Order: sequence, then C-alpha cells, then structure tokens
Amino acid sequence: MSLLPLLETRRIVLCVGSGGVGKTTTSAALALAAAQRGRRVLCLTIDPARRLAQSLGIDAMSSDAHEVSRERFEAAGLHVPGSLTVMMLDTKRTFDELVVRHASSVEARDRILGNRLYGYLSTSLAGTQEYMAMEKLHALERDAAWDLIVLDTPPTANALDFLDAPERMVDALDSAVMRWFLTAFEASGKLSLNLLARSTAVILRGIGKLTGAGFLRAMAELVVELNDLFGGFRERAREVSAALRGPHVAYVLVTSPDPMSIREVLYFSERLRELGMPRDAFVVNRVHPQGGPVPDAHAVAEALAEQGLALGPGAEARVLAAAADEARRGELDALHLEELRVAMLGGTDRPLRVDVPAFARDVHDLRALAAVASVLAGPPPR
Ligand SMILES: Nc1ncnc2c1ncn2[C@@H]1O[C@H](COP(=O)(O)OP(=O)(O)OP(=O)(O)O)[C@@H](O)[C@H]1O
Ligand SMILES: [Mg+2]
Repeated sequence: MSLLPLLETRRIVLCVGSGGVGKTTTSAALALAAAQRGRRVLCLTIDPARRLAQSLGIDAMSSDAHEVSRERFEAAGLHVPGSLTVMMLDTKRTFDELVVRHASSVEARDRILGNRLYGYLSTSLAGTQEYMAMEKLHALERDAAWDLIVLDTPPTANALDFLDAPERMVDALDSAVMRWFLTAFEASGKLSLNLLARSTAVILRGIGKLTGAGFLRAMAELVVELNDLFGGFRERAREVSAALRGPHVAYVLVTSPDPMSIREVLYFSERLRELGMPRDAFVVNRVHPQGGPVPDAHAVAEALAEQGLALGPGAEARVLAAAADEARRGELDALHLEELRVAMLGGTDRPLRVDVPAFARDVHDLRALAAVASVLAGPPPR
C-alpha cells in the first residue's frame, strides 16, 4: 500500500501520534515524497533531531522558512522536480503574532509582549504548543505558494489533544484558577504566596525566580490584558478548529508496533470517527520483519570472518542470540498489530496502512529520509 493518493489529492497532511513514534520522520519523508513528484511542499516541523535539521540545511534556532537547496538533493542523489521548504514551528513567535493581531491597541500589545511572565505563559500553558501549530497552519493554509503542507505535531501525552487544542488553550487562559487569582488580587492588592502557590501551582511551576509583590503584579496585569483578547482568541480558535475538519485535510496516524502506542492511536482514530471524519491512513513505524531466516552458528561464523570482525570469545553466540531476539520481536510486532488490523476493518472508511521497517540507523539525512519516503509513497518517478 502507498500513501501517494493522499499526497496527490490533499492540501494538508497532518501527522499525529504519541511521543517518539516517528511523527517528525514521517512528515519529513512524506513532504520529500511529494516534492519528488513535482509538488511545492511546505513541511511545518517541530523540534527535529539536530542532525536531521542539519542535513536539511535548517538552523535549529530560526523559524524562518527555508527551502532545501538543489545542491543538497543532488549530493544525496535525489531528483526533486518540486520543492521542499521546511519551517520550524515557534510557539512563542506564533503567540506573539496572535497578540499583535488581536490586541485592542498598540499600548495593550506592548504591555502584553513586555510583561515579564508573558514569555513563560505563552509557551507553557496547557495546549499552547498544539494550538500554535494549528494557528500557524491556518495562517499558511491559503498561501498559494504551496501545493501541499505537511504538519508535524508536538509530542503530546495524548494524541487526542490535538483536535481540542484551540479550545483547551483558551479555556486554560480563561480558567477558574486564573479568574480566582485575578479577583483575589484585585480585592486585596496583595496575596500570600502560600495561598497563591496552592491554587495556581500548575501555572506557576517553573517560574521560581520572580517572587513577592512584583511577581503578583506582573501576573495580575498579564491576566487582565489577556482577558481583553479572549473574544478574538475564541473566535479564532473556532475558525482553526473548523479548518481542521475540512475534506482537504488528511490525518495520518503514526504508531509504533508497541501495544501502548497502538492503543493510543486507536483511541484517536475512534475519536475521529465520532466526529464523522475519515481516518485517512495509519503508518506503523519501526516494524521488525517477521519470519525472516534465523542464521545458524555456521553462517554467523562465516559472516563474521567475511567482515574481518574479531569480536572475541562468545561472539557467535551473542550474534545468534541477537538474531533470535530480532525474530522474536518480529513475531511480537505481528501479534500486536493484529489488533490494529481488526480495528481498521470497522467502519465505512477504508484507511490506508503502510508499515515502515525499523532501520538499523536513525533517519538523520536526506538519503535515509528518501528511503522512508519510498516505503511510504512508493519509489519516486525518474
Ligand atoms: N523507521 C525508523 N528506523 C530507524 N529509526 C527511526 C525510524 N523512524 C524514526 N527513527 C528515529 O527515531 C527517532 C524518533 O523519531 P521522530 O523524531 O520522528 O519521532 P517523533 O514522533 O517526532 O518524536 P517526538 O514525539 O519526540 O517529537 C529519531 O532519531 C529518528 O531518526
Ligand atoms: Mg517530533
């Protein structure tokens, strides 16, 4: 099976899944696959591994759009008639842009952006990262420069967080705790830190440095100012949510063969179904091969000699044990994936599924990425 139909027909591809399953790798590989087929692709990524970022030529510190150069593709032996532009998601910068857009005046805008706690709040509030990813996507969606936008998603404890992120973030900002804090502060003009710590522990965790009245004042001022933006934020959150539910958006659910990860991806897929949205595709990443030949002692000894490897006494036994272990993992993966297979049969949608093998090395350069792209979308045309 191949995910090519999604790359050819959709405008947005969203890769979701639990932490560490391979969302960033999958989104970059899908973006490359589309670019290899002539599409102008924007890959919005979050925190790619440093070596992957380097091999794409992007600066980990910059969130500017960066087109991967012809030279880089050629050096990796890749023919890319389209284009691949990578942009790192910057939560704080996106939040800043949102504040700029919705602040009632220049003064209000400057007061918020200049608030000592704003930097912390804008990146640490529940759902902020996810919301800002969606916000950025929404802002870029209408840009005619891109045929396709592939969105990587942040590692959330729960892949589900994504769909509710816009509302959740506004709710957090508008929460009872915040309101309580605001009222309490306004009433007395002063508050015991003890009391404060108990009720707003979550919000305050990690701030530490700012204490006393200065801190309280900064917090109260920020909450008052942000309150002002709630109307605009809410409206925008609704828009962003609606945009995520259109037919031009494909959801690619990424999982590992691990039972926990499968359970999570099935939970998310159930949720999509409840919302009347199709589950477009599943990618099972890092699958161990099943039923491959397990070498015998003789074959191992020969292979070691051929490679000129002298691994010391007991090397053959260790290699044999590792090979047997690999085979067992293959069996286990197949067993776990049976649950996914059955779950995919339920419902009227016919999601695609591609299994990506566990490669011996991390996917950290264009060549390796192209190998994943070929698994996901088939070999590129030449
Ligand atoms: N099929 C694969 N074979 C070998 N290594 C892989 C494979 N897929 C991903 N990796 C490696 O696993 C690591 C994690 O992958 P990746 O960063 O794509 O996961 P993620 O889901 O984006 O993680 P996070 O939730 O932390 O953002 C990376 O170092 C990547 O190179
Ligand atoms: Mg990632």
